[in-house]
Amino acid sequence: MTVSAEQQAREEQLLERVVRSFDACPDPRLAELMVGLVHHVHDYIREVRLTEQEWGKAIGFLTGCGHITDDRRQEFILLSDVLGVSMQTIAVNNEADGDATEATVFGPFFVEGSPEVPIGGDISGGAAGEPCWVEGTVSDIDGKPLAGALIEVWEADDEGRYDVQYDDGRTAARGHLHTDDQGRYAFWGVTPTPYPIPHDGPVGRLLAAVGRSPMRASHLHFMVSYPGCRTLVTHIFVRGDELLDSDTVFGVKESLVKDFEQQPAGTPTPDGRRIDGTWSKVRFDMVLAPART
Ligand code: BEZ
Ligand code: FE
Repeated sequence: MTVSAEQQAREEQLLERVVRSFDACPDPRLAELMVGLVHHVHDYIREVRLTEQEWGKAIGFLTGCGHITDDRRQEFILLSDVLGVSMQTIAVNNEADGDATEATVFGPFFVEGSPEVPIGGDISGGAAGEPCWVEGTVSDIDGKPLAGALIEVWEADDEGRYDVQYDDGRTAARGHLHTDDQGRYAFWGVTPTPYPIPHDGPVGRLLAAVGRSPMRASHLHFMVSYPGCRTLVTHIFVRGDELLDSDTVFGVKESLVKDFEQQPAGTPTPDGRRIDGTWSKVRFDMVLAPART
């Protein structure tokens, strides 16, 4: 749509006045963030010729996000996730560095203070699912093994639910462990299965309105930290999962897609544990980038 020169001048004058209102901001970074935001929002309104009714609906949507948010549910993070804003922020803040393992979205289900397990221990805590043996190493970008690196892991059960989504206060399918003196780790978890993000609120209704699925590709979360290294927040995904191309939070990266090899019932396990049915195994070697200030 074309607008008259007079109309264009009015719109630009308004933008300039708003931008100038930040001239006296004592914090230069805050001024930069606010001026950039105002520029982009005004450009958007002018480009799509936003109607007052549409803006009213948007305010209603954001108000709904506020109302459903509490200390267990964070609708604004979900909104950021489904718009790819979380992944874009992660991309900007986790620049490629040698062979450093790629980062992906944190998600809302990490809990501080997970149970500690020894190397080879079981983080499933009784969660339903096919047992999965996960093993690998943690090293720096020069290939030096990192001994004593802290690995936090968490995942959903085979119903697609995290422990915190049950009302019984259980702790399951989460834990932490440390690498050994050669940077190695291993644990038992459950083979990841797909699940939907919480979609009974405004963000779920938005996804439905635009014809998008709320499903996430099957994955297992990791957060790995070591002094002097950039903390790595990532997941591994299951090769062959049909949701890899349509993960609703855009979290999938090819380098994070791994072979979860299913083992027939009766196959001996790496640590001699007896398992009656099938089990799977996966290897994930992680490389941490140096922390840069
Ligand atoms: C998750 O992987 O746990 C998750 C990530 C983003 C939104 C919802 C859930
Ligand atoms: Fe998850």
